[in-house]
Amino acid sequence: MGTWLTEKFGLALPVVGAPMANVSGGRLTAAISAAGGLGMLGAGSAVSAEWIRTEGAIAAESGNPYGIGLMAWSVKNHADHLEAVLELKPALVSLSYGDYSPYVEPLQAAGIVVATQAGTVADAHEAIAAGVDVIVVRGAEAGGHGRNDVGTLPLLQAILDLTDLPVLAAGGISGPRGLAAVLAAGAAGGWIGTAFLTCAEGLTKDWARKRLVEADETDTVYGTVFDAASRAGWPDEFGGRALRNPFYDTWEGKEEALKADDDGHNQYITATDPTAASLYAGQGVGALHAMTTAADVLQNFAAYKTYLRAVMG
Ligand SMILES: Cc1cc2nc3c(=O)[nH]c(=O)nc-3n(C[C@H](O)[C@H](O)[C@H](O)COP(=O)(O)O)c2cc1C
Repeated sequence: MGTWLTEKFGLALPVVGAPMANVSGGRLTAAISAAGGLGMLGAGSAVSAEWIRTEGAIAAESGNPYGIGLMAWSVKNHADHLEAVLELKPALVSLSYGDYSPYVEPLQAAGIVVATQAGTVADAHEAIAAGVDVIVVRGAEAGGHGRNDVGTLPLLQAILDLTDLPVLAAGGISGPRGLAAVLAAGAAGGWIGTAFLTCAEGLTKDWARKRLVEADETDTVYGTVFDAASRAGWPDEFGGRALRNPFYDTWEGKEEALKADDDGHNQYITATDPTAASLYAGQGVGALHAMTTAADVLQNFAAYKTYLRAVMG
C-alpha cells in the first residue's frame, strides 16, 4: 500500500508527524521518524536559529528522514531561521501562515521537498502558483493555527479534484479509521498533530498532558485570544484551535483590548496551569486517553490497513 509519501521518504507508514511549536522538538521528531513515520520539528516564531540547529541535529541523528515546519510570517523577520534550515537540509520543509513564495525556490534548490498548509481552495491555488511540491489540506478541526473556514473532508475532496500534486490531509485524523478515510479519498498520507500531543518524547508539560487526556472532542475553541495575549505577532487572519479555558472565556470578543493589556499579557506568559495557558489541540483530542510514546501512536495508526481492506476488499 505505497503512496507518494511512503515512497518519496522510504516510510513504513503514510504518516507525517506535523510540526508543532513547543511540542515537537528534536526528540519527538526523531522518535516519529524512527518508528516509521516522518517526524517534523516545529520551529515557532520565538525560537532562535541556534535552537533550530541543535534540535535539528537531534532529529537527524538516527539518519532517518525528517522535516522542519517554519512559520512564513515569522521567517520574514528571521532570515536566520531559513539559513539554519538550509544548513540542516532536512528532507521536507513546510512553510505555512503568510507569504512563503520567496522561500520555495531556495529550499528546492537545496534538494528539499517543500510543503504548505492550505485552509481553502484559494490557498491551494496559491500553493500551486508558488510551485510547492506537496499540498497539506488543513481542515478547520485541526489543532494549532490555521483557518477555520472548511472542514477536512470537503476541503480534501475539492483540492484533490483540482491538482495532480501529492496531497496530505490534516485535521481530525485521530486514529487509523481517519487515516484510512483520507487515503481512500486519494490523499498520499496524513499530517497528524494532536494524536502525538501526549507522547513522552514531546516538550509538552506533564500538567498539560493530564489536561489533554481529560479533554473531550467538544472542549476546543478556535480564535485569536491567545495570540492577542502572547504578542508574538501572529497575523489576525490565522487563529488557532486550542482547549477552551477560563482565560479564553474572559477575553473572548475583547481581543483588541487584550493586545494592549499588560496584566493579561503577563498572566498568559507566566501561566503554569491549564486555566490560563494555551493548550493547542484539535477536535481529535477526545481520542487521547493516556500518556503514550511515538511508537505507540504509530503502531495504532498502522491498523489503517485493516480498515482500508474492510471497505475495499
Ligand atoms: C500544539 C500544536 C502546535 C502546532 N504548531 C505548528 C507549527 O509550529 N507549525 C505548523 O506549520 N503547524 C503547526 N500546527 C498545526 C499542525 O501542523 C497540523 O495542521 C495539525 O496539528 C493537524 O491537525 P490535528 O491536530 O487534528 O492532527 C500545530 C498544531 C498543534 C496541535
